[in-house]
Amino acid sequence: MEETKVTSFPEGFLWGSASAAYQIEGGYDADGKGMTNWDHFVRIPGKTYKATTGDVAVDHYHRYKEDIALMAEMGLKTYRFSIAWARIYPQGKGEVNPKGIAFYENIIDECLKHNIEPMVTVFHWDLPQALVDAYGGWENEQIIEDYVNYAKTLFNHYGDKVKYWITLNEQNIFTSLGWLTAMHPPGKFDDQKMFYQVNHHAFMAHAKAVLEYRNMGYKGQIGASFAYTPSYAMDCKPENAMAKANYDDLKNYWWMDVYAYGRYPKAAMAYLKKKGVAPEMKEGDEETLKAAAKEITFMGVNYYQSCVCEYNPLDGVTPYGTMNTTGVKGTSQVLGVPGIYKNPANPYLRTTDWDWIIDPTGLQFCCREITSRYGLPIIISENGLGAFDKKEEDNRIHDDYRIHYLQEHIKKLGEAIEEGCEVIAYCTWSFTDLLSWLNGYQKRYGFVYVDREEEEGASMNRYKKDSYYWYQKVIETNGACLFE
Ligand code: BG6
Repeated sequence: MEETKVTSFPEGFLWGSASAAYQIEGGYDADGKGMTNWDHFVRIPGKTYKATTGDVAVDHYHRYKEDIALMAEMGLKTYRFSIAWARIYPQGKGEVNPKGIAFYENIIDECLKHNIEPMVTVFHWDLPQALVDAYGGWENEQIIEDYVNYAKTLFNHYGDKVKYWITLNEQNIFTSLGWLTAMHPPGKFDDQKMFYQVNHHAFMAHAKAVLEYRNMGYKGQIGASFAYTPSYAMDCKPENAMAKANYDDLKNYWWMDVYAYGRYPKAAMAYLKKKGVAPEMKEGDEETLKAAAKEITFMGVNYYQSCVCEYNPLDGVTPYGTMNTTGVKGTSQVLGVPGIYKNPANPYLRTTDWDWIIDPTGLQFCCREITSRYGLPIIISENGLGAFDKKEEDNRIHDDYRIHYLQEHIKKLGEAIEEGCEVIAYCTWSFTDLLSWLNGYQKRYGFVYVDREEEEGASMNRYKKDSYYWYQKVIETNGACLFE
């Protein structure tokens, strides 16, 4: 808004950074860890850029102390990381692996020692393969009980030390890529019926874990992290406005409404019933979802880009097309759902080398939407720029493009706060460079450069990028330096 003037961020604001186990840890078979769906998937030829795997990743498993010391030196207030289910339960359930429990206990203690608030993601996509083999993983409702058992184990062990819990990372993404576009495990294509059923199981797993957390007496913060791509109607043509409304119901509110209200959006449900792909719900599910919705304390948002919505005729584009996983600009396609919407390019905005739209205002838009629709506090659990970085001969990395990207996003976040949004934390993606699931190691996100390319065997040495020093100052001044 014209009058919005920001000078700094609220006191106690949690400046953070985030990661995920599979993308950083490596040690894929170390100390009793079980195999996961990703350990298998990356071995299928053609699935990842240059067949990269997270077998070694950036070796955080052995270097976590060094990494957390770098976080401390930067002044990070919170560190969001995920726990690998298969380290805790190698078979997904049954026997607990004490070495897995100890590993994360060490990470949590290391964070606390440096006054860094640990923020734990219970599930960031790496599922024990044993559960896939036994009953199809998320496809079977058995997963709900097993997920809750796993989550309770984490609450039991770490609940006194960890005050921020994220049940699921980007349920909308891992299910879409897993059951619609075949780009993530289990690699199913256009299985819409199963896609909605899998989502229902995930909602139930989330809800039951939230309720268990409260039943166990914990008072901390708990919620899910949603990959929120806010939409703008192409123009004021009514059919484009409806394309936006339909997009929001099917692509955004379908998840956020369940987390926040415990119910599915009506128009989307009516549409899915007509198509015969609506999820089957059991008696009592709705009550459970509603009860859990009352217990979450924030909406987690992973924000990378916005989109444009335009009416898509029945013979128009489909949701299935090429995705840019190489960093060659302009190689992704316009996608959409025939008869409903499509997502053309935004002529007002630039894109990254991977064709992701760069839109700082979109972050403000997300916060305002969540505040108006749900009235919930917000944790920005991811936001960042994937880019090619170059280490110079003097070992410096001049990533001014990343500084610019983050700076513009944080400023818009500041405006959202000034306009009444309650934002608790902001986590950049990511702290160190890491494996970008489908895009290999060349797509870098970190403040800390890791010396490795697609091939194994590099030094893995850590180098601070220019953005490291910049974020250090942002934290030190509680954001004030951005508004001077
Ligand atoms: C989010 C995920 O989707 O975006 C991360 O939670 C992921 O795990 C990040 O790495 C960036 O996506 P990508 O495809 O560029 O790695």
